[in-house]
Amino acid sequence: MTMQRDLDMTSLKFPATFEWGAAASAFQIEGAAREDGRGPSIWDTFSHTPGKVLNDDNGDVACDHYHRWQEDLDLLASLNATAYRFSIAWPRVQPAGEGAWNERGIAFYDRLIDGMLERGLAPHMSLYHWDLPQALQDKGGWGARDTCARFADYALEMGRRFGDRLRSIATHNEPWCTAVLGHQNGQFAPGLRDAKLANQVSHHLLLSHGMALAALRASGCKTPLGIVLNQAPATPARNTPADVRAAENAYANFVRWYMEPIFLGRYPEIEGRPLPEIHDGDMALINVPLNFLGINYYTRTWASTDVPPVPAPMLMGVSDMGWENYPQGLTELLLRINQDYELPPIYITENGMANRDEVAGQRVPDHARTEYLRSHLAALSAAIAAGVDVRGYFYWSLLDNFEWNSGYAKRFGLIHVDYETQARTPKESAHWYRDFIATQRGHRKGG
Ligand code: FCB
Repeated sequence: MTMQRDLDMTSLKFPATFEWGAAASAFQIEGAAREDGRGPSIWDTFSHTPGKVLNDDNGDVACDHYHRWQEDLDLLASLNATAYRFSIAWPRVQPAGEGAWNERGIAFYDRLIDGMLERGLAPHMSLYHWDLPQALQDKGGWGARDTCARFADYALEMGRRFGDRLRSIATHNEPWCTAVLGHQNGQFAPGLRDAKLANQVSHHLLLSHGMALAALRASGCKTPLGIVLNQAPATPARNTPADVRAAENAYANFVRWYMEPIFLGRYPEIEGRPLPEIHDGDMALINVPLNFLGINYYTRTWASTDVPPVPAPMLMGVSDMGWENYPQGLTELLLRINQDYELPPIYITENGMANRDEVAGQRVPDHARTEYLRSHLAALSAAIAAGVDVRGYFYWSLLDNFEWNSGYAKRFGLIHVDYETQARTPKESAHWYRDFIATQRGHRKGG
């Protein structure tokens, strides 16, 4: 171990109870798309529609996690991790999104959760990481208000089945993506392009979150409940009134649109954006206390009104997604939201980068990812030192996986996956993370 590495690891001190983990989601890793009674989801339909996903990749096999979950949990535990963030595939446990429960699908998550507990990994479960049962999409999907009630029923049942073994339950993962990428830009399932619908979907997602919390709490569920939002600070490219306004507008659409209903009980007023259809009582349902807030942070939003736009400086490098590495954005974001709202404890539920990784011998020298991880942990530690209550960090992702419309082309994992053989190879960043966590937990350093 080099001196530099030692210095990096010991100069940062996270709270003793801080949780260390990695995140993944059902559709991106499980595969077994037609096994044990699983129903189709909107991502099965979308990825099997030619031209929607790069190389026409799909989730039929993915990382075959459905069969290899024990090895995957062993790998996560071998990194000294204390927590795992995963999601339930709704169509695996309730194939039509309403009515009958699929016991074989539920048994998979029973095994998975017990497997986490056996390995000392706290289970953090997300209910919705984008794989809506296709049968509900056929009835209008998130554009239909009735889907909110279906979601609350599903949440209640998952709480009943698994709640007492979970460290947390998140309702939605990144509702902005579902609304905008799924219903406005058409880049994600269900692939619609309708701004008015997308605006209504954003409301239904928040409403379904509130309804799920109400149902779970009424049932006596004691598991900490929250939501996971993707967020970023917005930087004006130049200090002109137009760029400053563009940045504030972008931040309002991305961050405030979701935070204000939840924490203040109202939507922000945004130039050019109408309110969705809101029924009496909706805002009160959405504006209920959370036990935690999950934040996913990847990069900042860069706002330029010049034509052509002034490019972001990319001083800290850029990922294979083309996203700027901007670690201080994590500090900026956390300080701003901490000032603007009364927040519950925060988890960083995703943070990571795609890199063009290749296996050389038994090694995957992903130096850029190690640097991304190290610099973002330093930025996180700065936010904690400034008073933000952050309880845990989940790297995205445990494994290389199905990166939505980028298919298998973009690799975010700490662990490399060879999709031909399903061989898993921990990357150098995984070794670094393992040693970093060991130091934080006061262990002897990993080998
Ligand atoms: C987030 C998603 C996650 C993954 C990362 C790269 O938006 O929640 O599933 O795709 O981006």
